[in-house]
Amino acid sequence: MWLEYKRLCSQQQSCEARRGAIGKQYAIRFPEETSYELGQNEAFFYLDEGDDPEKVRFHDYSAIYERAGLYEQLFYERLQCRSPEVVVSRLERALSNAGQSLSTMRVLDLGAGNGIVGEALRARGIARVVGLDIIPAAHDAAARDRPGVYDDYFVADITDLPKPQEEALGRWNATCLTCVAALGFDDIPAPAFIEAMNLVSKQGWLAFNVKADFLGSASPFAELVKAMLMENLVDLHLIERYWHRLSIDGDWLEYFVVVAKKRGHLPEKIVRRFNGE
Ligand SMILES: C[S@@+](CC[C@H](N)C(=O)[O-])C[C@H]1O[C@@H](n2cnc3c(N)ncnc32)[C@H](O)[C@@H]1O
Repeated sequence: MWLEYKRLCSQQQSCEARRGAIGKQYAIRFPEETSYELGQNEAFFYLDEGDDPEKVRFHDYSAIYERAGLYEQLFYERLQCRSPEVVVSRLERALSNAGQSLSTMRVLDLGAGNGIVGEALRARGIARVVGLDIIPAAHDAAARDRPGVYDDYFVADITDLPKPQEEALGRWNATCLTCVAALGFDDIPAPAFIEAMNLVSKQGWLAFNVKADFLGSASPFAELVKAMLMENLVDLHLIERYWHRLSIDGDWLEYFVVVAKKRGHLPEKIVRRFNGE
């Protein structure tokens, strides 16, 4: 418990230090109205930079990544996001319980953003970590703010991965897939995540988080986790409910972290089923 607290503090400190190094404090303002009627992906803030405040949606990732330190200030300092540290520490624990070491993993970090998950993995001495994100600004921000964290970084849409990039990714022989704060909403849909699972080795590890509501409803992610478990596609090693971050109204958003080990590649029929074929 104490170690975990220290690690969460260290993630917070590392984000603060990173922004401190950048030396910029942004004038972030939250709107007068509450966010209760808005979807999590519709929440927004105002950024006072010039004469007119700019309205920026939380999911306008490019606008956020383009400003060094803004992502850290918004999500990690103001909204207390804990997910990279929670997911990576639970992966480490599950591996250790299974007699394996995180340091030997070759990780594909899906929806890598500006590299906070990569940094948490790198801090634990990971063998390889390769990032993938749909937005060029995410790649540029990771290279700008966390140079050397990723051994390679692909700019690609996981829902439509071009063959040459799939082959190049394959050459990294990933043994583990991480996906933090990137499933659902307008980000990565369940069918694409299923296909991404097959980008790691047959006995590969999976560590991801998903909004608690998604598992409690008839959502594709509930179906996915059910299929993973009921159809013996994976061995579940850990599932835990935790606080991902605050909403702009100060409510803790609850997520699940899941760590599982594949039992082989996911069969084509499962992929087709989730693709609605
Ligand atoms: C909230 S950010 C999380 C970034 C990082 N994992 C973290 O925890 O800080 C979600 C990321 O998923 C990426 N993403 C969304 N849809 C994607 C897709 N279809 N393929 C690849 N990346 C995607 C976004 O560009 C964004 O950088």
